[in-house]
Amino acid sequence: MHYFRYLKGELYAEDVPVRSLIEEYGTPLYVYSHKTLTRHLKAYNDAFMEIPHIICFAMKANSNSAILRLIANHGGGADIVSGGELYRALRVGIPPEKIVYAGVGKTDDEIRYALSKRILMFNVESEQELERINDIAGQMNVIAPIALRINPDIDPETHPYISTGLRMHKFGIPIENALEYYRLARGLENIELIGVHKHIGSQITKVTPFVDALQRILVLIESLKAEGINLRYLDIGGGLGIQYKNESPPHPKELAQKLLPLLKGLDITIVMEPGRSIAGNAGILLTRVLYLKKGEDREFVIVDAGMNDLMRPTLYDAYHHIVPVRKNRRKLITADIVGPVCESGDFLAREREINTVEHGDCLAVMSAGAYGFSMSSNYNSRPRPAEVLVKDGEHYIIRKRETYRDLVRGEMIPDFLDK
Ligand code: LLP
Repeated sequence: MHYFRYLKGELYAEDVPVRSLIEEYGTPLYVYSHKTLTRHLKAYNDAFMEIPHIICFAMKANSNSAILRLIANHGGGADIVSGGELYRALRVGIPPEKIVYAGVGKTDDEIRYALSKRILMFNVESEQELERINDIAGQMNVIAPIALRINPDIDPETHPYISTGLRMHKFGIPIENALEYYRLARGLENIELIGVHKHIGSQITKVTPFVDALQRILVLIESLKAEGINLRYLDIGGGLGIQYKNESPPHPKELAQKLLPLLKGLDITIVMEPGRSIAGNAGILLTRVLYLKKGEDREFVIVDAGMNDLMRPTLYDAYHHIVPVRKNRRKLITADIVGPVCESGDFLAREREINTVEHGDCLAVMSAGAYGFSMSSNYNSRPRPAEVLVKDGEHYIIRKRETYRDLVRGEMIPDFLDK
């Protein structure tokens, strides 16, 4: 659910006509709805109200400071995967005791940084990482709180590039070795074992993989108890899908209905790491039509947003709904909607049926709030778009459009090249 809709043929973001945003800020432009973001957060909080839980927003989905501050204001924490994300999270006031840190390649500096800030826990992905964290904690004279990320070998039935919980993936520790790793961790001096973590993939549109994976983890928790290892946190990861096209993913309430009976009475705090299901449908990308071009066997609508602004179609062949900012009854055409970047893979949609467009028309790429801006780049030396947040009929710029000067910030020309 979101708050982007048509009123008298004009697309609105909540109560603001997006046309007015385009006039003020130009295109390409990311626009987010405050009401949608808070609604999604509340949906999770309400669904899991009966048990102690922390919602750690997977900030890789959208790491804009204003959005993170909004999450913090609503009691949310952060799931981070780098020192940069930790920096962003702390800067906007996300409490360290609500920060969990995953990722297969944490560097020494990143480990030191996270230890010094006393985050809730490291989600550890390998034996070597465990030892590294133990050593660094020892040098710093602190105890590192950790969970082991367990790979439960469950097929989330999603796109192979965003599935993570199978034996073949680089993530986590195989479930059959889990006990052995916990025993090893218990023996390490500077480690405190406080949790278990799993995350099986993203854009999951069924409840079953979540239930199956959780059941496997619960068996593990029981075996650990029998060995005297009592965990305080169970991090069930993220991954709940959203509607891009005609999927009908479960609502957090449905997920909770299936998971709560398994979790109640466990005496454990549940950590969740939703990203896409919080931010995905809370954002759109606005773009302007530059040209219409007839190819040999198809038409091309060339717009001013490219794969550098929204990478998902190129990278995953992902579908995003694309709608006109002003509804019309022009004839339907089937076209590829492509960007200005010099790559054949630079498209936002292929063989898409849309009402024909003219130079200057504006289009909205829907469901772009997660893994949109956060995956954008400056490829082709394109300044990255501005981002705007809409709330209660007002709009707020939350990231300025980059300038050409921004593109070269940090670059240096050695003296020997002068002349
Ligand atoms: N927790 C961990 C450990 C993760 O690796 C991820 C996502 C999440 C939570 C959040 O998953 P979500 O709730 O957003 O599904 N760039 C891809 C998605 C990559 C997801 C990576 N990990 C895309 O655009 O579809």
